[in-house]
Amino acid sequence: MKIYITIPLLALIITSANADSLYFSKLEQATIDAKLLEKTAEKLQEYKATQPIKFPSFHQPNKPLIEIERFCTLCHNKLAHQENVAVRSFLNAHSRFISCETCHFIPKNTNLIYRWLQNDASIENEENSHLQPHPAAHLSPFSQGMPVVLSPEHPFFQKIKTKWKDLSNSEQIQLTAKIHAPLKEKGISCKSCHDPNQKMLELARIGASKKQQQAIEQNKIAHLLDKDKKTIRLIDLLE
Ligand code: HEC
Ligand code: HEC
Ligand code: HEC
Repeated sequence: MKIYITIPLLALIITSANADSLYFSKLEQATIDAKLLEKTAEKLQEYKATQPIKFPSFHQPNKPLIEIERFCTLCHNKLAHQENVAVRSFLNAHSRFISCETCHFIPKNTNLIYRWLQNDASIENEENSHLQPHPAAHLSPFSQGMPVVLSPEHPFFQKIKTKWKDLSNSEQIQLTAKIHAPLKEKGISCKSCHDPNQKMLELARIGASKKQQQAIEQNKIAHLLDKDKKTIRLIDLLE
């Protein structure tokens, strides 16, 4: 039998904006069972024991100009990937120009479109611009023209940013479970984007020239390191 636990306080913490991001709707709808809560509690405890969750201070002197606030990195280090030594540096490098949600939010039966998102203002449909038109732009999912990524103005973003430390442990566990419920833990494979048959990115519409499109789709390193591959053969790089 599944036991569903609802904590009324969650209702107070999660106040939705008028038109909402698809990620946030999924987060709100997620039902968290006792088993998941337990698992999350363990992870959170482990996490706190090893590295205190980082929250940016309100004032950040010498902040680089192009630094933008992102929901996931309210807690996660910008170099979020550490476990898989073979691919972590690539994933961390990609996170500088690709939103976390692009690889970790893959809802079923949903048509997402990937475009450059610059801060919270979408620069959708900008055809034939440059690949990464601005240093702060991140390739991000859009659903029905709306960014999936939570903007810094979103009430939930603000709550996590400003209220987290004051929440009780059980509320933090609930919220951590909610935040991750719609996400894919292991991300997507390199081949989702780096393959001649990839359907994920409309490369021309994100500003890639013909040459760049080929380079992205036929990227040797990505083919070599793809997680579906069992063995890594360096000779593949020379083919
Ligand atoms: C309120 C803090 C917080 C926010 C915001 C947050 N995370 Fe996490 N995340 C955690 C903690 C704590 C863990 C558990 C410790 C760990 O596994 O590193 C975790 C774990 C993960 C994991 C590992 C899988 C797992 O279940 O252990 C992934 C993947 C992840 N987060 C992705 C994201 C993405 C993508 C976002 C933004 C949409 C995000 N997180 C936002 C705190 C947060
Ligand atoms: C290009 C796709 C991609 C992007 C962008 C991306 N991830 Fe990941 N992420 C992955 C893949 C793939 C894995 C699984 C790696 C493995 O273990 O094989 C992963 C794993 C993780 C994990 C598990 C722990 C670990 O050490 O690997 C966390 C946490 C995580 N991602 C958080 C994030 C956050 C936060 C962001 C944004 C700052 C982000 N990811 C951006 C693809 C991506
Ligand atoms: C969500 C789509 C996506 C995924 C998943 C992805 N990449 Fe990429 N990758 C890109 C795009 C787009 C570029 C082109 C960036 C540019 O040229 O500005 C790129 C560029 C690269 C480059 C060339 C970097 C350079 O500066 O020339 C390498 C190498 C690479 N990816 C390896 C990987 C590996 C390895 C993985 C899996 C661990 C992976 N990628 C997963 C989208 C992705």
